Amino acid sequence: MAVVELKAVSKSFQSGESLLTVLDNVDLTVNEGEVVVVRGSSGSGKSTLLNLIGGLDTPSSGDIEACGYAVSKLGERDLTEFRASRLGFVFQFHYLLKDFTATENVMMPAFMRGMPRAEATERAQALLAEVGLSERQTHYPTQLSGGERQRAALARALINEPPLLLADEPTGNLDAENSLRVEEQLLELVRRHGTSLIIVTHDDRLATRGDRTLTLERGALVTS
Ligand SMILES: Nc1ncnc2c1ncn2[C@@H]1O[C@H](COP(=O)(O)OP(=O)(O)OP(=O)(O)O)[C@@H](O)[C@H]1O
Ligand SMILES: [Mg+2]
Repeated sequence: MAVVELKAVSKSFQSGESLLTVLDNVDLTVNEGEVVVVRGSSGSGKSTLLNLIGGLDTPSSGDIEACGYAVSKLGERDLTEFRASRLGFVFQFHYLLKDFTATENVMMPAFMRGMPRAEATERAQALLAEVGLSERQTHYPTQLSGGERQRAALARALINEPPLLLADEPTGNLDAENSLRVEEQLLELVRRHGTSLIIVTHDDRLATRGDRTLTLERGALVTS
């Protein structure tokens, strides 16, 4: 079953007098549980692509469906529901809240959706254990290493068991060793949870680890 479906999606930005076409008639189908790696040079439109799928931006033309939602046509209220219930997002920067512990940060999205605190906490602790942070539950973000912060962000993205995870260079800020660790954990987690993953990376090692690698060049998404 398709978790993500893009049909003839184009995205252009007006820059001064000229129109910059970043995505040109892109088609993409991602199936349940599939791991798709997206590569492409800086400025090729990788973040734009993920933002469109996650409903953070709207296409200039074309249709986007994700997890049964017509993302490109949703109003703000349905978009919020879509993101909260179906989507996990990890970025290059962790966006953990500094006044909250690792456990509190991870449980927050579940708690916000109405899960009782005790249950959300328990689930957060289990996820932190999965990413090797059992001993860091009560640490604040400033008391975690860069890699640990990204792993906590990963746990947070999965707390509501989303069928789809979007990751935009989640290891972009880490050194080689930590990148590898976070990537391994990310892949292990999505495989174990049956989550579909679209991940943008510059890392050659990761490119071979997905089910499929796609490259964005001159507005087109090509199989590589
Ligand atoms: N809101 C915007 N307005 C105008 N141009 C934009 C906007 N957002 C992105 N762009 C342009 O679209 C192109 C693609 O940007 P995008 O952020 O998707 O690239 P990227 O592949 O993620 O690059 P990087 O690897 O550097 O993160 C860039 O040339 C950028 O300048
Ligand atoms: Mg980007």
